[in-house]
Amino acid sequence: MLHGLDPEARLRACIADIVQNHADAFACVILGDLAHKAEPAAYDLFREIVAPLPMPVHLMIGNHDRRSLLRERIPVAPSDENGFVQSAFDTPVGRFILMDTVEEGSNGGSYCEERQTWLVGQLEHAGDRDIYLFMHHPPFDCGIPCLDRIGQNDQADIARIVGGDARIKHLFLGHVHRPMAGSWKGIPFSSARATNHQVPFDLRELDHVPKSDEGPQYRVIFMQPDQVVVHFHDYLS
Ligand SMILES: [Fe+2]
Repeated sequence: MLHGLDPEARLRACIADIVQNHADAFACVILGDLAHKAEPAAYDLFREIVAPLPMPVHLMIGNHDRRSLLRERIPVAPSDENGFVQSAFDTPVGRFILMDTVEEGSNGGSYCEERQTWLVGQLEHAGDRDIYLFMHHPPFDCGIPCLDRIGQNDQADIARIVGGDARIKHLFLGHVHRPMAGSWKGIPFSSARATNHQVPFDLRELDHVPKSDEGPQYRVIFMQPDQVVVHFHDYLS
């Protein structure tokens, strides 16, 4: 149990809903925090639960994960040349770039020079194709103090590399456990509720992250050249 909820049951329900309704999806991207405390048994269970997904599954890392344990228990997890859980691949609508924004030992994020160099290379490789970015931590403050306290520490570096790049058509975010949409440096972004617990819309200055019992979601993204539609699906409702 996690914050009074059963994450295994909720993830199983999510995967079953995807298998039933979206088996034709091009890909499934899971935006990190695959386990709560990087427990090896949780990674084994995660692997078993997502196995029925018929489409390619692309994994990312969150602040609750640990790179070495994640890679040990889920060997298909991607790796860049420096061991960060970053990957990029081409799709019919452009290049997807999945970034590792984790600072191990901290709930906040970082994006060091090694990762920045990898990102610059991926952006160059994309040429004139459209680009879709995926990050666990938002690269900006979202206005909810308890979330911004565990936000991205290297916002300026990320902004310098991707800000204003008109090829980037959307930024998909994890970490905030809330639906958010807007734009940052000219880039449209979205986040959604998580599969287990949520973070309430609470604007007080708190030294902890409160939890809410708002229902879980996943996103279904319809993409075509010049159009991205993000649907927020409350799969238990
Ligand atoms: Fe997170």
